[in-house]
Amino acid sequence: MKITPQNNIPGFSLPLPIYNSIHIADAIGRDGEEFGVFIGLDKKYAEQLKQLSLDKKDVDLQKNTGDKKRFGEGLYEDWYKKNRTPFALVHKQTDILAAIAWFGPEPLLSNKANWHTAAWRSYNPFRGKGLMKNFTDFVMNIYTQNVKNTGSEIKLWIAVKRGNPGSFKLASALGFQVLEEASDEFSLVMTK
Ligand SMILES: CC(C)(COP(=O)(O)OP(=O)(O)OC[C@H]1O[C@@H](n2cnc3c(N)ncnc32)[C@H](O)[C@@H]1OP(=O)(O)O)[C@@H](O)C(=O)NCCC(=O)NCCS
Repeated sequence: MKITPQNNIPGFSLPLPIYNSIHIADAIGRDGEEFGVFIGLDKKYAEQLKQLSLDKKDVDLQKNTGDKKRFGEGLYEDWYKKNRTPFALVHKQTDILAAIAWFGPEPLLSNKANWHTAAWRSYNPFRGKGLMKNFTDFVMNIYTQNVKNTGSEIKLWIAVKRGNPGSFKLASALGFQVLEEASDEFSLVMTK
């Protein structure tokens, strides 16, 4: 997927106020589909996220994530209070969420590094279309460059359930490596 950043994006710091959204880029998938890239979800996309998270037919999402509880049954407002910064990939023609990625401060183990957690989802019919690496790489850089920071280098981590090859492959392609001491029989913790 080719991503073209917007010119003249107004200044911002992360996280944005809830339901604020900034259009930061446009993108074209390998089959010519057009997308917009946004920091923040406005209310319409937050509602789409809730419905996507409740989708029982999305077996991989239900098996590999806690989103049904997090966004489907829980309140987006409560989740957002944890200083999370979501990014959205929106399919222009249909105005629906194709993918999200989010980041936020979250300690790992007991060491004092400046840890932030990462997470990513793509939604059918856009899953498996080769959109995720460039989208996630792009927004990860925007996040690390713009989040309020105490000065020390930001380290990212993600927990990937064992038996989730798509997410493992994506994390590896993005430069994450397994941290054995933080992993367990259910999940691999990968850091970057
Ligand atoms: C994980 C997820 C975000 C990956 O998104 P995607 O749309 O499949 O991503 P892409 O099409 O860009 O593919 C990324 C890479 O993973 C590979 N891949 C995707 N699904 C795969 C699978 N089931 N088995 C093996 N490899 C897979 C692709 O081939 C591609 O690798 P490549 O660049 O070497 O060709 C998506 O599968 C998803 O949302 N799954 C459900 C929720 C989830 O598991 N989220 C992550 C929780 S940690």
